[in-house]
Amino acid sequence: MSTIAELLKQAQSSLPGSESKLESEVLMQAICGISRSQQFSHPEKKLTTEQAQQFSTALQRRLSGEPLAHITGSRGFWDMDLKVTADVLIPRPDTECLVEQALIRIPADAEWQIADLGTGSGAIAIAIARERPRCEITATDISDAALQVAKENARLLIADNVLFRAGSWTKALGEGVFDMIISNPPYICADDPHLQQGDLPAEPELALASGEDGLDDIRLIITGSVPHLVSGGWLLLEHGYDQASNVAEMMLKAGYKDIFKQQDYGGNDRVTGGRKAG
Ligand SMILES: C[S@@+](CC[C@H](N)C(=O)[O-])C[C@H]1O[C@@H](n2cnc3c(N)ncnc32)[C@H](O)[C@@H]1O
Repeated sequence: MSTIAELLKQAQSSLPGSESKLESEVLMQAICGISRSQQFSHPEKKLTTEQAQQFSTALQRRLSGEPLAHITGSRGFWDMDLKVTADVLIPRPDTECLVEQALIRIPADAEWQIADLGTGSGAIAIAIARERPRCEITATDISDAALQVAKENARLLIADNVLFRAGSWTKALGEGVFDMIISNPPYICADDPHLQQGDLPAEPELALASGEDGLDDIRLIITGSVPHLVSGGWLLLEHGYDQASNVAEMMLKAGYKDIFKQQDYGGNDRVTGGRKAG
C-alpha cells in the first residue's frame, strides 16, 4: 500500500508543466476525498488499494490530455465550486475581472435586471446573483446542454434570482429591457492554432471560436444589445488581449458612451464596456 506522499510524488513527477504539484493535490482531493490540508498534515497515511487505483486511473486520464476540470467534474470560480462538463467552457480566472467590473457598477442594494449572454456553466450569472441578491439575472445560451449545467449550478448554489432562456444572443431576451448586459462570448479567431492546445480541444468549439477575426459574436452582441438596454444601461464584454480597441470602436459607432477598458490579472486588456447613450 502506498502513502499519500509517495503517490503525490509519483504524480507530480509524471505530470508536465509548472502546475504539476497543485494538479496532483487537486486530483487526490477530488478522487480520493483527502483534502489538501489532510495531505499536508498526514503525508504518511496509507491509501486503500481502491483509492490508489482510482487515483492512478485519474492520473492516466490527465496524462492523456483530459482537462483537470473534466476529471474532477468541477472548477473554482469567484467564491464557488461550479459543476463542469464537456458541454461548457471551463470557467477562467480572467472572467472574474468581468464580474468585478460589473459589481463595481451595480450598487449593493440595486434591484436591476441584468442579462448574461452565453452563460455556459452559469459562472458570471451565478456569481453576480449571489453578490447582488436583489437583482434578477437572465442567463442565456444557444446550447441546451450548457443551460442544463448552468441550471444545476444555480440550484446547487441556491441562486434563485437567475432565470434561464435558450436562444441566440439578444434574440433570447424577447422584449426584455435591462440595466446591464454582460457577456463572455466566443472570441478566438477560427484558424488560431491555440484552439488545438491545452484544454481547448476538449471544450465546445461553440464556446471558443468566432469567425475569421474572432469578433463575429461580439459584433452581434454590441448592435443587438442597444434596444435591450435602458438609457444609460451598461454593456460589459470580455474579449481577446488584442481586441480592446476594435471593441471600443464598434461600441462608439453603435452609440455607446463612457467607454472603458480593464486589464486582467496578467496585464492584458480583457474587458471593454460602455453605457447606452441617450
Ligand atoms: C466563452 S463561453 C463563456 C461561458 C461562460 N459565460 C463563462 O464565462 O465561463 C461562450 C458561451 O457562449 C455560448 N454561445 C455561443 N454562441 C452563442 C449564440 N449564438 N448565442 C448564445 N450563446 C452562444 C456558448 O455555448 C458558450 O456557453
